[in-house]
Amino acid sequence: MTHLNFRHIRTQASLLVLASALGFALYGCNLNANAAKSNYEDLVFGSAKSTLSMTPPTTKAIIDGPSLSFAPNVKPLVPARERDVRIDCVHEEIKVDDGVSFAAWTFGGTLPGPVLRVKQGDLVHFTMTNRSDKTMAVSPPSPHSIDFHAAMVNPHDKYQEVLPGATIKFDWTANYPGVFMYHCGSPAILQHMIYGMIGMTIVEPKNGYPTEVDKEFAIVQSEYYLTKLEDGTYVTDMVAAVDKNATYVTFNGKPRQYVANPLKVKAGDRVRMFVCNVGPCGTSSFHVVGTIFDRVWLDGNPQNELRGMQTVLLGSSSGAIVEFVLPEEGTYPFVDHEFADVEKGAVGLIVAEGGALASR
Ligand code: CU
Ligand code: CU
Repeated sequence: MTHLNFRHIRTQASLLVLASALGFALYGCNLNANAAKSNYEDLVFGSAKSTLSMTPPTTKAIIDGPSLSFAPNVKPLVPARERDVRIDCVHEEIKVDDGVSFAAWTFGGTLPGPVLRVKQGDLVHFTMTNRSDKTMAVSPPSPHSIDFHAAMVNPHDKYQEVLPGATIKFDWTANYPGVFMYHCGSPAILQHMIYGMIGMTIVEPKNGYPTEVDKEFAIVQSEYYLTKLEDGTYVTDMVAAVDKNATYVTFNGKPRQYVANPLKVKAGDRVRMFVCNVGPCGTSSFHVVGTIFDRVWLDGNPQNELRGMQTVLLGSSSGAIVEFVLPEEGTYPFVDHEFADVEKGAVGLIVAEGGALASR
């Protein structure tokens, strides 16, 4: 009897545990369903598989689409819900500094590649032909790919390798506002990145930014790792890259270029800078001497807001929007405040000319 009672109690207890577990599971599902609805209702998931095909030689422009600009300038957003974008891979001789050039691998023939600007919710129809077989003789053709950090897609499909002479096409939707990098994802990724396959995507919030500005600039910070050969030519240096010992650290691909040719604003202008540290190995402590960032939106998303910042710390592949005023007429340096990087080229100037708030 005792034995039976015990079994009876044990069965009842088991049923209770089972019912509770089922209840919690259903409750959990319900919570998840609500969370999915409230958190993700604006996001678009899923897209058609990429297409990859060998294509005949083309005379088309290496880049194409009104959404592309060249840093530091960035064109205003052209209204469109769907955007055709072409960025082809080409191998080009890139001049880094006086007397320093190397056989670079590029998106669109420039280093960094063009700035892609879209709006949150936009559908990007992307095309990329690997034209490395038709460009520099000194740099043999190579497979390449493109990885958009601004996209949410299956990397094995969309970011797959594209052989020389082939074209990939795929679609992606810009779900989150931000300042994102793109880069080649072919192995060794570090090699493809130090060869120059890096760039920036700006995704504007669907309702625009909460502030109005007078000037916008795009700054891509990146490193070079180069070695000089006996014949005087420069080549990329993987050993230096693995050691994180950069030869140059640059804003938009050239050391100190905005010391030679400063960015120009008017005193009192509100300035918006889209900054992306694409690395590939170093961090950036981005700072503008003589002012304080009124707003910092980490990764370029206004929901990630900081105020009154002296510096924004950007890990490799981190972006930010910084907004500030240069209140007085004058010359304001902008630097990676890790000053070893300034010695390697990460310094520029913004000249604030006479304006509303100019000192007299
Ligand atoms: Cu590549
Ligand atoms: Cu990446």
